[in-house]
Amino acid sequence: MAVMRLGHVRLNVLSIEEALTHYTDILGLIETSRDPDGTVYLKGWDEWDKYSVILAPSDRAGVQHIAFKVEKDAELDAYRKRIESYGLEVEEREANALPFCGRSLFLRLPSGHECFLYAEKQFVGKSVGTLNPDPWPDGLKGAGAHWLDHVMLMCEVDPARGTNKVAENVDFFGKVLDFGLAEQVVAGPQGEIQAAAWMFCTTTPHDIAFGAGPRAGLHHISFFLEDWSDILKTADLLAKHRVKVDVTPQRHGITRGATTYFFDPSGNRNETFAGLGYLSQKDMPTITWNEENLWRGIFYHTGDIIGDFLGVYT
Ligand SMILES: [Fe+2]
Repeated sequence: MAVMRLGHVRLNVLSIEEALTHYTDILGLIETSRDPDGTVYLKGWDEWDKYSVILAPSDRAGVQHIAFKVEKDAELDAYRKRIESYGLEVEEREANALPFCGRSLFLRLPSGHECFLYAEKQFVGKSVGTLNPDPWPDGLKGAGAHWLDHVMLMCEVDPARGTNKVAENVDFFGKVLDFGLAEQVVAGPQGEIQAAAWMFCTTTPHDIAFGAGPRAGLHHISFFLEDWSDILKTADLLAKHRVKVDVTPQRHGITRGATTYFFDPSGNRNETFAGLGYLSQKDMPTITWNEENLWRGIFYHTGDIIGDFLGVYT
């Protein structure tokens, strides 16, 4: 029984047309379906399921839900029992409640974020196919993002009130969904506050991350590129199209990834991320960063505080 991967995120956007230009022409995702109300479904060229990103029209930016794909339909029953025994409410939703998916489970994470588990989603296939494939397809637009890599959620942490939704999410993902904890940031005089965490269900350093903030929200969604030169070229592309860049190409200490941060037209933060970082396995010891080295962990080269990086999110 296993959660295989982050299956998709449903993002709220203020203008579908502007968002589409950003996610298709600049990032290179491929539109696979569209609802009458304007909701659009997108995938990366190297993904095989129908979509990994849903853009939904809204008057407010942010993440509406995240969804994880589990290996087999029958596992949903087992996960339902586990989630209920843990003490969280969970509802079964019929097939197609999540568009193009089989039945699903809906729950609110301890942090309040909406989350689905599902086992089946309509198969589309990679753009290069499966028989004697080329390494990449012709006709890619913009950055040619390969796949949705991970999501980082902001979770309420208020030591004065004893609230730590980062720690609660880590406990839930570890005990109920069998995620591993690759890295964490600890704060406070004795390092007693878990202020951020990077967790995995695949073999990459993270499939989901949690950071501390005054309220729940979305810090960023991240798309995989092959290597450092793709990160640089994509940053050129962002500048060329006057996309608001948050942090220029860098290396993370945490996860060791190469990165660039920027915003979509609605203000949702995006990241392009490259490199394996390292191989995560369930028995790998968790890497810990203390508060003094927080910024070295985030932006390894300078270790400098970048003003609103942790404070601005949707
Ligand atoms: Fe990231």
